[in-house]
Amino acid sequence: MSTCHQPFDPGHLLYGGDWNPDQWPREVWREDVALMRKAHVNTVTVCPFSWASMEPREGHYEFGWLDDAIELLADAGIGFFLATPTASPPPWFTLAHPDALAVTPSGVQLRHGSRDTYAIAAPAYRKACRRISRLLAERYGKHPALRGWHVHNEYGTIDYGPHAERGFRHWLKDKYGDLDNLNDAWGTSFWSQRYGSWEEILPPVATQYLPNPGLVLDFRRYSSDEMRNAYLEQAEQIRAAGSTVPITTNFMLPDWNNLEQWSWAEDLDVISLDHYLDSTSHEAEAHVAYGSDLARSWSGGPWILMEQNATQIKLRGRALPKPPERTIRDSLGYIARGSQSCMFFQWRASTAGAEQWHSGMLPHAGVDSEGFRTVVQLGQILKRLDEVHLPPVDGPIVHADVAIVWHADGWWALQTPDLPSADIIYAKELRATHRALRRLGIATDFVAPGASLDSYRLLVVPCLYPMDEQTAAWISAFARTGGTVVVTYLSGLADSNMRVLPGGYPGRLRDLLGAYSEALCPLEPGVRHRLLSARGKPLDAVAWTEHVHLTHARSVYSYAEGPLAGLPAITWARAGAGSAWYVSAQLTRPSLQDLWCLILHDADVKPTVVGAAPLGIEAVVRRSRDADYLFLMHDGEIDVDVTAPGVDLMSGIDLSEGGLLRAGSCTVIRLQPNAAHAVSVAIHKPADDSTHLESDLNREYQ
Ligand code: GAL
Repeated sequence: MSTCHQPFDPGHLLYGGDWNPDQWPREVWREDVALMRKAHVNTVTVCPFSWASMEPREGHYEFGWLDDAIELLADAGIGFFLATPTASPPPWFTLAHPDALAVTPSGVQLRHGSRDTYAIAAPAYRKACRRISRLLAERYGKHPALRGWHVHNEYGTIDYGPHAERGFRHWLKDKYGDLDNLNDAWGTSFWSQRYGSWEEILPPVATQYLPNPGLVLDFRRYSSDEMRNAYLEQAEQIRAAGSTVPITTNFMLPDWNNLEQWSWAEDLDVISLDHYLDSTSHEAEAHVAYGSDLARSWSGGPWILMEQNATQIKLRGRALPKPPERTIRDSLGYIARGSQSCMFFQWRASTAGAEQWHSGMLPHAGVDSEGFRTVVQLGQILKRLDEVHLPPVDGPIVHADVAIVWHADGWWALQTPDLPSADIIYAKELRATHRALRRLGIATDFVAPGASLDSYRLLVVPCLYPMDEQTAAWISAFARTGGTVVVTYLSGLADSNMRVLPGGYPGRLRDLLGAYSEALCPLEPGVRHRLLSARGKPLDAVAWTEHVHLTHARSVYSYAEGPLAGLPAITWARAGAGSAWYVSAQLTRPSLQDLWCLILHDADVKPTVVGAAPLGIEAVVRRSRDADYLFLMHDGEIDVDVTAPGVDLMSGIDLSEGGLLRAGSCTVIRLQPNAAHAVSVAIHKPADDSTHLESDLNREYQ
C-alpha cells in the first residue's frame, strides 16, 4: 500500500518532539511555540494520545482547540506530523464496548486506566479507528504544514480474547487451507492435541503446562498481521480523504517486539523508530548504531527517528541523567546512519499523568536549564548539518559490505518455552554480533531472508532458529557464488513451524557448513570453556556449546576443556566459490570481537576508516545527493587530531591540514561524492595518552 516510492526527503533535517497542547492552557502553547523557534524546532508530532480531547463523547467532536494549536505552529513556520490517537481509546469507548478491551493469556480482561488497552481485532474498535482517522484526514489532510501521518503509536498490544480467537482461526485457515496441513505442521499428535475443527483452536492462553511451539509462533505472526491490517485500514481512510503526505507508524525497540517489520515496511511510506537507551556505558552508542542500522535496513533508505529521551536514560527503575554531549553525539549517530530527523518524546515535560517524570526537550526547570540549553545547541548544529538530508540519487545511503539476517520469527521462536536453554535471547545475540562488527569499524545492514545480497561480501546468520528451505537455499547460494557466510548456533535447527530437523544440527544448513552437531550442550551460568586455535587468540565460550562433527569442514577453533575438549568448536568450509563458517559456541564479548577480527581478515572486509575504531571513534559515511558525509563520533576518552580531505560542517574548518576532535564530541566532514573509498583520515593520539586509551578499552569489556 506504500504510496511514496521515493526515498523520504522532508526538505530539511526534522527537529522536534511530541507536542500535546491539550494537556496545557493556551498561554503555554504560545510560550511553547516561541521556545520551539528559539531552539530551531521545525517539526512536532501532534497529540498521539488525544482521542478523548478530540471526541469527548461518542460522535461529539471538538477540533477547535486542535485547529488553533495547528495554526499557531503553522504561523511560526513549524510543520507537524498528525497522529491518529487510536493507541488510547477514551473511557466512554471502552465502557460502551467492553469486548474491545484486551484479554491476557490468563483470561483477565484488562480495564480502562492506562493506554494501549485495545483488542486489535474487535470490530467496534476497528470501526472507531477508521472513523477518527477519516475525520482527521478530512479536516487536516491537506494542511500545508502537515509533514506526514503518524498512525497510532507503537502498535503492540497482543490480545488473547474472543476476537483474537476468531481472527487467529481465520488467519490459520488462510495459511493452511485444511486442518490436516495444520495438524501436520504443528505436530499435534503430541499430547493429543489433534484438531478436528477450527473452532477447537485457541490462542496460546494460560494452560497447565507447555503450549505447542508451532501454535505459539503462528499466533505471534497472526498478531503482527492483525495489527498491520488495522494500520492499513487507517492508511486507507487517510488516502480516501485525499491526503497525500507520507504515512508512517512508529516501531519500538529493543525490549519487546510484537511486529514483523519487514512485511510492515512494505506498507509504510517511511519507517519511523522510537529508540530508548538501555545502558549508560558505551553500550548506549552501540545501541544507537544497532537501532539505526535496523531502521535504515527496514526502510531501504532514509528513515525517521520519531522519539528518543532528551535528558535521561531510564534503567532498572531509575531515570539516570543523560549528559548533554551524549544527547548530541547520539542524535548525530542516528543521522549518520540515515535518519532524516532528530525527534524526542516529548517537547515539554508533563507535570501530570503517568509519565510526569519522563524528560522533555523543555524540562520542568524551564529554559534556564542545561537540558534546554542542550536542545538549543542541538537545534543550531542540525541547521549546520541540514544539507546531509538530501537522499542519494542512486545506491544505498550507507554502504555496507556485511549483512546480518534479522527476522522477528527468530525473536519469537527463541521466546517459546522449553528450548534447550533459556539463556539465549535473540535480541541480545543480534546486538552482540552487531556490536562486535561496529566496534571493529565495520558498516552493516540487516536483511530479511530472501533479500538481494548483490552488494554484500559477508552474510551473518545469528540464531535464526526456524528456517524454511528457501532461506537455506538463499544462504547457500550466497556462499556458492563467492560470499562468506557465518552461521551461529541455534540457526536452522527447525523448519518454519518449529519442527526440529533430524539427522544432525543445524538440519537446514549442515551440507553447506560441512559440519553438524550431534548434541547441544548449553552451559550453566558461571561456566566458561576455553577454545584454542593455531590461527588466533584463545576464546572463551559461555552459555552454549555443541558436540560438533566435521564432514568436509575443517576445525578452526576446538574446545580445549570440559566434556567437549578436543572437538571442533568453530569450523570453516569451502562452499563453491565462497565459504561458510559455523560458530557452535556463544562467546564472551572480547572473544566474539577477536573471532570477528579473524573472519574479517580472511574475507578481506575493511573498516570504514582504518584506525578510527581502536581509538573509540565511530566513523560512518552517509551518502547524499551532492556529497558524502563522514561522521566521526568520538566515544573514547582522549582528544585526537583528525586530518581529512574536506570541511567540518560543524565548525566550517577545512580539515586537510588537520584539526582537533575532542573526546565525547563529533564532527561531520563533507567529502567529494563517491570518494568514500579514497578517504584517508589520519588520527594521531598524543603518545603520552596511551595508558588512558588502554584503560578506556578495557573498561568496555568488563
Ligand atoms: C514511547 C511512547 C511515548 C512515551 C515514551 C516514554 O514508547 O511512544 O508515548 O510513552 O515511550 O515512555
